[in-house]
Amino acid sequence: MKILVVGSGGREHALAWKLLQSSRVQQVICVPGNGGTALLKGCHNLGLNIDDFEGIGRFALVNGVVLVVIGPEVPLANGITDYLQKQGLKVFGPTRMGAQIEASKSWAKALMQEAKIPTARSLVFNQETAAQAYVKEQGVPIVIKVDGLAAGKGVTVASTIEEAQAAIAAAFGGQFGAAGNLVVIEECLTGQEVSILALTDGITIRPLLAAQDHKRIGDGDTGPNTGGMGAYAPAPIVTPELMQQIQTEILEPTIAHLQKRGIDYRGVLYAGLMITPDGSPRVIEFNCRFGDPETQALLPLLDSPLDELLLACAQQRLAEIPPIEWKSGVATCVVVAADGYPGSYSKGNFITGIAAAEEKEAVVFHAGTQLKQNNLITDGGRVLGVTAIGESFNQAIANAYAAVDCIQFEGMYYRRDIGHRVKTIPSASS
Ligand code: AMP
Ligand code: GLY
Repeated sequence: MKILVVGSGGREHALAWKLLQSSRVQQVICVPGNGGTALLKGCHNLGLNIDDFEGIGRFALVNGVVLVVIGPEVPLANGITDYLQKQGLKVFGPTRMGAQIEASKSWAKALMQEAKIPTARSLVFNQETAAQAYVKEQGVPIVIKVDGLAAGKGVTVASTIEEAQAAIAAAFGGQFGAAGNLVVIEECLTGQEVSILALTDGITIRPLLAAQDHKRIGDGDTGPNTGGMGAYAPAPIVTPELMQQIQTEILEPTIAHLQKRGIDYRGVLYAGLMITPDGSPRVIEFNCRFGDPETQALLPLLDSPLDELLLACAQQRLAEIPPIEWKSGVATCVVVAADGYPGSYSKGNFITGIAAAEEKEAVVFHAGTQLKQNNLITDGGRVLGVTAIGESFNQAIANAYAAVDCIQFEGMYYRRDIGHRVKTIPSASS
């Protein structure tokens, strides 16, 4: 069968790579894809824009595409699934209404309140003066979020009143366009963040392994937030008991309340959680798609055929599929970025050493790359995601960095401490 994957990041390369491991999958078409999907055997890039729903639908229908998998949130929030479903296509990814769970933080908060899902206390504001007064009354630390999609830049964890006030002024001042017309102000939670990506067909919901990301640009979790600089799975902090609690207190009630609103949600429900110091999970945010780079750490560990799982979600028969199976061991993904990211950075630099990196028992997922006249060049902020598997985190981390060491391009930057929370400290005698 033919599967079409929409997107061009590391997440989409990992999806295409895993889908092609199934004997049933004959071809994956990536729209528009990147240098890695261009080089992947069995995969083919199609140069359409991700907001060209008509073009994507026409191609899928004419070419007998069995399933369309949507990677990023923006086309989901713009209704790509609604459009393609109307054309008679099977789609993995929620409808426009379902995607509100990520595209409107106030909508997600209202759903959480209604479903009694543990989350940070919050209030929604549509006027600057009231928001400023509330922040003064609450004090710091406090979290200011613009309501709509803001490419990961709409959240300020403010440790001073001035910072909080500036964030409110920026949102209402139009810095985020219509996304900032509403502002959510919430309690600042402490603890460890984990990413729970769950597959759902709108009725049944099954979590993948727990993963942890590294959001900040710098070592020691310093500097500005990014899309994610590295990930590992399974996250040891999520014990089987905690995963069960997340299933019954968060995932199942969320799906039940989406259903109650008449939303048939088929895709990934990604719960970004804070595990607070008392060990309880609280939702920081929901996303309506696979995480990036969490997916690059999770899929190499997946033993079940991905095509079967995603198709079952799209056809609402996930309950018929056997339990998800995983390989033993752990995985770590180190993101290699362009110097300057998440600010401005250069593009078009030659990348070398990927073949050598892949000889080091690692798989190199491309994110911001392009194949130009048979040369790989940089084409984005996050350039590559280098994933390695190991028996232990120490081993997986060492394998991933050994592979990163083989890669070169001008202005290459990566964190050197991915997995610091799970790395065991060598004993004095070793
Ligand atoms: P979001 O875009 O909602 O994922 O927020 C980006 C990052 O801001 C999260 O990954 C957290 O690190 C941080 N954050 C968001 N909400 C809170 C909160 N209520 N308490 C503490 N940190 C938060
Ligand atoms: N890694 C965070 C995200 O995908 O939103």
